[in-house]
Amino acid sequence: GKVAVMLGGYSAEREVSLKSGMAVLKALVARGIDAHAFDPAAHDLHELIDEGYERVFIALHGRGGEDGSMQGALDVLEMPYTGSGVLGCALAMDKVRCKQIWHALELPTAPWRVVRAAELDSVNSEELIAELGGRVIVKPAREGSSIGMSIADTGQHLESALKHAVQFDEHVLVEKWIEGKEYTVALLDNNALPVIRLETPHEFYDFEAKYQANDTLYHCPSGLNEQDETYLKTLAEEAFKAIDAKGWGRIDVMRAKEGNWYLLEANTVPGMTEKSLVPMAAKASGIDFGELVQRILAQTLE
Ligand code: DAL
Ligand code: MG
Repeated sequence: GKVAVMLGGYSAEREVSLKSGMAVLKALVARGIDAHAFDPAAHDLHELIDEGYERVFIALHGRGGEDGSMQGALDVLEMPYTGSGVLGCALAMDKVRCKQIWHALELPTAPWRVVRAAELDSVNSEELIAELGGRVIVKPAREGSSIGMSIADTGQHLESALKHAVQFDEHVLVEKWIEGKEYTVALLDNNALPVIRLETPHEFYDFEAKYQANDTLYHCPSGLNEQDETYLKTLAEEAFKAIDAKGWGRIDVMRAKEGNWYLLEANTVPGMTEKSLVPMAAKASGIDFGELVQRILAQTLE
């Protein structure tokens, strides 16, 4: 049947989504599938029904596409779609709620505090920094691609980081900075693919390091020994399941110098350009981009 590849949308990650969506579309068409681009910022969802679409490949990142709202709308239309449902998407999009669930289930995640926009003026930023170990990373609760994020190690830095982050979300996560190495685990059909280690000369893996810089290094195989690789894959699978995420996605993790692991966040519609991380991990297990896209699409038939 006819497939809509949803791309673009209204979020701050619109441009990234256009790239993911076009790569997915191209791969589906190359495999003989009757797939078409569908930008919900330009088309009414009822057109899906009117134009005879039977399934949706969601390649929307961020709010309005990866946060459960589109998933809910498609549920109402009884239109099958790829990936996680309403709950999994909503929890993954909100870094605070996601960490609360992981913490409650004793899955490791770095210490944090939440600051709400209304409390901004009453925050004692010196105290907050000290409480979280002297260096923090400040993140809007519901954003992607590192948008609105900054590192702070003084009260003054924290104040400006908070002011910046509340422009993107009224809830801001202030998380203890974990000094160490960053890893990511892609999941396909709920199973972890080979781990990737990210190495950036930037302070952290920010928007520029993700999409613009050519000095970011990706290691796959990750360099972990077999035991650590297995541990991390199991941790990622548990973290994914804990928030009711399904099908495919990506879990980002830090490993502190002392060896402890810390879950950072979950992505239910991770980047899908040919250079993105999930395709890279799939390739390492012998699954090329076209097969990956087709396997994700096949989840709509389950
Ligand atoms: N939010 C971006 C697209 C990612 O996680 O890959
Ligand atoms: Mg994310």
